[in-house]
Amino acid sequence: MSATLATASYIGATILFILSLGGLSNPESSRRGNLYGMIGMTIAVLATVMGPQVTKAGYGWIVGAMAVGAIIGIYAARTVKMTQMPELVALMHSLVGLAAMLVGFANYIDPAASVEFTGAAKSIHEMEIYIGILIGAVTFTGSIIAFGKLSGKIGGKTLLLPGRHWLNLAGLLVVIWFGREFLHAESIDAGMMPLVVMTVISLLFGIHMVMAIGGADMPVVISMLNSYSGWAAAATGFMLSNDLLIVVGALVGSSGAILSYIMCRAMNRNFISVIAGGFGSEGGAPAPAGAAQPAGEVNPILAAETAELLRESKNVIIVPGYGMAVAQAQHTVYEITKVLRDKGVNVRFGIHPVAGRMPGHMNVLLAEAKVPYDIVLEMDELNEDFPDTDVAMIIGANDIVNPAAEEDPTSPIAGMPVLQVWKAKTSIVMKRSMATGYAGVDNPLFYKENNRMLFGDAKKMLDEVLAALKA
Ligand code: TAP
Repeated sequence: MSATLATASYIGATILFILSLGGLSNPESSRRGNLYGMIGMTIAVLATVMGPQVTKAGYGWIVGAMAVGAIIGIYAARTVKMTQMPELVALMHSLVGLAAMLVGFANYIDPAASVEFTGAAKSIHEMEIYIGILIGAVTFTGSIIAFGKLSGKIGGKTLLLPGRHWLNLAGLLVVIWFGREFLHAESIDAGMMPLVVMTVISLLFGIHMVMAIGGADMPVVISMLNSYSGWAAAATGFMLSNDLLIVVGALVGSSGAILSYIMCRAMNRNFISVIAGGFGSEGGAPAPAGAAQPAGEVNPILAAETAELLRESKNVIIVPGYGMAVAQAQHTVYEITKVLRDKGVNVRFGIHPVAGRMPGHMNVLLAEAKVPYDIVLEMDELNEDFPDTDVAMIIGANDIVNPAAEEDPTSPIAGMPVLQVWKAKTSIVMKRSMATGYAGVDNPLFYKENNRMLFGDAKKMLDEVLAALKA
């Protein structure tokens, strides 16, 4: 393939990636967005492999590596459960970081590069290598720690070393100093020492940064590492003079940063304090799940009574949460929705931006169960409608419907926007026990007079409600 054709293919792939991102912003167009992404990536890979930079001798290696990658990818996609997706994403980010690091070192010791670049171009190239390895190393270890925390292999508690911000500052100064040494190095051998020292510091910084971030902030960390992995890819693009990698890296980097910001807003957290780690968690570090003490009497309800209440309602809002994902209850939820809609009940779904364990978690599950998009609404779109709602049915959700966020300024989740389900005539919470949710805080909703608790596994209870509705 000629260089011109490769460039034209890259431009085509770039346009498809931008269309893909646009499509992913809405559930209705997200399938199309995914398709654009897949076509774009196929074009990008083919154009790169068949492009002028790859020699015939390299084909065997490339095909072999792609086959191994494809087998691992297919296996992971088939076996990983929806609830484990954030862990998988964290692990994949770590691979992007590792790749950026390895490409950086390979580029530095590549004898062809020392001939290709001279003078100012050489300094710029070396700067790209230094920054690329730095971002890659932070992304690599940060993502591995995030994976460990999300999968429960490392405790969710924050590790707050004394004087940790000074430690980070000292690390930064050392990295800048060695950067200078690296750029002034006379030979590859002389430059290797500062490069290795910086890599070790960056690897340690990645560990330190994510260890200092509390469990409740992990969703933001994941999207932030997503952003870092994009910048690492962009840096790799600069090192390899690959325009497509630069553009795609920048797209991932900036969209990840925007997503982190949106999630911070949804959880009422300050972006800077989340990244600085630990800062924000002093006042309200989350307690381990289940630690809070129950405070008052609750009113239990049976599945048959729930069905009765639903049948008599005009307006119903269903609020799904992490428990619906665990119980895989989305199909039954939709069966119930269909029965109620056939009876003329206005049923809608209220989605909190951080419901579940990853952005869009609930939207994906509901789409899988074929719930029509027009009845799935964002929190802001229907929060004002709860006073006119007969029944708010909360399925395996907890933190996102916690009134303490609005009513108790001392609560660890104070200020986090929540779905105001308690304003409905009746709210029904479906969960197995009185255990707390992800943030580990007690939920006063359970003790409200107009609230009922339907205890049990969400799938089992909803099956019973469906049977009673159909009877
Ligand atoms: P949570 O607050 O975690 O509550 C989920 C509830 O589901 C639990 O209290 C649990 O109670 C119940 N549950 C678990 N398995 C169940 C089952 N089989 N049947 C019925 N109920 C079950 O979830 P949420 O309301 O969706 O809030 C999300 C939380 O996760 C927020 O704190 C958010 O910050 C955090 N988070 C979000 C993300 C993103 S990006 N969405 C990522 C990571 C963390 P029982 O044990 O009593 O059943």
